[in-house]
Amino acid sequence: MKGRNRPLVVTHKDAKTLMTNPSQSNLAVVILAAGAGTRMRSQTPKMLHEVAGRTMLEHALHAACGTHPDHVVVVTGHCRQQVQATIDSVNQRLVDDYGVAGIQTVVQKEQNGTGDAVATALAAPALRDFRGTIIVTTSDVPLIDAATLTSLVAEHTTRPQAAVTILTTTVDNPTGYGRIVRTHDGEVTKIVEEKDADTAIKSINEINSGVYAFDAELLGAAVNQLDTNNAQGEFYLTDVVGIARDLNKLVRAHRIDDAAIVSGVNDRVQLAAMNKEFNRRLREHHMRAGVTMVDPDSVFIDVDVHIEQDVVIAPNCQLRGNTTIATGCVIGPDTTLTNVTVDNDAAVIRTTATDSTIGARAQVGPYTYLRPGTKLAADGKLGGFVETKNATIGQGTKVPHLTYVGDATIGEHSNIGASSVFVNYDGVNKHHTTIGSHVRTGSDTMFIAPVTVGDGAYSGAGTVIKHDVPPGALVVSAGKQRIIEDWVKNNRPGTPAAEAAAACDATGTPPPATE
Ligand code: UD1
Ligand code: MG
Repeated sequence: MKGRNRPLVVTHKDAKTLMTNPSQSNLAVVILAAGAGTRMRSQTPKMLHEVAGRTMLEHALHAACGTHPDHVVVVTGHCRQQVQATIDSVNQRLVDDYGVAGIQTVVQKEQNGTGDAVATALAAPALRDFRGTIIVTTSDVPLIDAATLTSLVAEHTTRPQAAVTILTTTVDNPTGYGRIVRTHDGEVTKIVEEKDADTAIKSINEINSGVYAFDAELLGAAVNQLDTNNAQGEFYLTDVVGIARDLNKLVRAHRIDDAAIVSGVNDRVQLAAMNKEFNRRLREHHMRAGVTMVDPDSVFIDVDVHIEQDVVIAPNCQLRGNTTIATGCVIGPDTTLTNVTVDNDAAVIRTTATDSTIGARAQVGPYTYLRPGTKLAADGKLGGFVETKNATIGQGTKVPHLTYVGDATIGEHSNIGASSVFVNYDGVNKHHTTIGSHVRTGSDTMFIAPVTVGDGAYSGAGTVIKHDVPPGALVVSAGKQRIIEDWVKNNRPGTPAAEAAAACDATGTPPPATE
């Protein structure tokens, strides 16, 4: 499949072009991520809650890195070890995908406001003498993407270049946001926070998204002039706007129509709403790219999922993590795939699969459970009530019914009979089973690992295979069948079973049914 790990951008048609542009010169991004996010009521810091399969912080990092900046600096504070661990876990991918130099962090010791957070960032070695444009963004606005940030910078750097450009939008209910105050002829003069606003200002519905582009030199000078004379007793980054105006510098607003792009997440209700909206956009993106969804509202797709055209997704499916689906597949209904690669024209029905691969034209389901390390080759089959784990299953091999395959390698074009178990665990250790190609095993075969079954071998029904089976052999282990006549009559007299048996004639035929 092509472009498997290509980052998926959903909101702007031109995003891919923008993201592949060569490095923008003299651009840095500061991501504010030191706040606690108390309204989430969570042990997990707000920016580490997930939207569409990525933490909100990762969304912010992807957006930042997608602008190809010279520096990305994250301001950490609350739960900073956890935040740092997340950054460390994605750093290499960001370097590889976007060609950035890597993510730097600074610690804001006390959360004294967004202005103080930016002052802390500017003291980082990378930014101390930096000249150019600094984007300041936050870690709780997951739909902000590289295209939006790039268009903000484009507006900011339009001649005559601005000192501050604020990303704004207009909303029906602006409660909680800083309001954009303009002169009669539309020039932005200041931002007033909700808690500092009078009734007239509260009625303004153009809001500050909390995302800005600044001239680095102006920003450095202005953050030193901030004070805490406001309702919250904090250093407000928003006051930089008024300071810039006092210095006769140019302030612009880059107003976007799509308010969802800048909507933030502060509590679990907004988190749910954001996940829903993000998913709606992802589904729309995939449908426009040629994916059929029978009931889109019941499909959940993570942002790193890749789906080729002419895939059909039936209702109630979740495609998680780095799942990739090649052309011609039918997925669902009722299927959850997490980090699964499905090759072309496979059918995966009522299945839960994780960290697995499914080959071309393979059939999986219904009621099938693929645990990590399952590798089903092309034309294979895993049928109803089959569970697999750490199992490599060769081309055209079928495991059709009611079977557990754990820690196994099976060759090509073999068939595992119904109700078989790969007995991999001796109570202490796990052991491996190896089965060759063109093997036919009978129903209810137990493979007591470690054991090997050679190419072309057969097993009888009910066989317990404890020792290796050579190629072409038939292995049977069930004892000779014994019949104990009249055992029920003698040992279970008076039961329905005894009565039913007694009613049969000499040939064993039951009496005709009565009306
Ligand atoms: C801020 C803006 C407001 C805007 C809104 C958009 C200010 C003063 N106000 O308000 O105009 O409408 O965002 O969502 O900037 N943070 C730190 N250190 C701190 C404080 C905050 O890193 O000391 C981080 C938070 O983790 C968060 C971001 O800064 O990522 C914004 O802080 P938050 O407290 O949410 O600001 P708002 O009150 O929402
Ligand atoms: Mg906020």
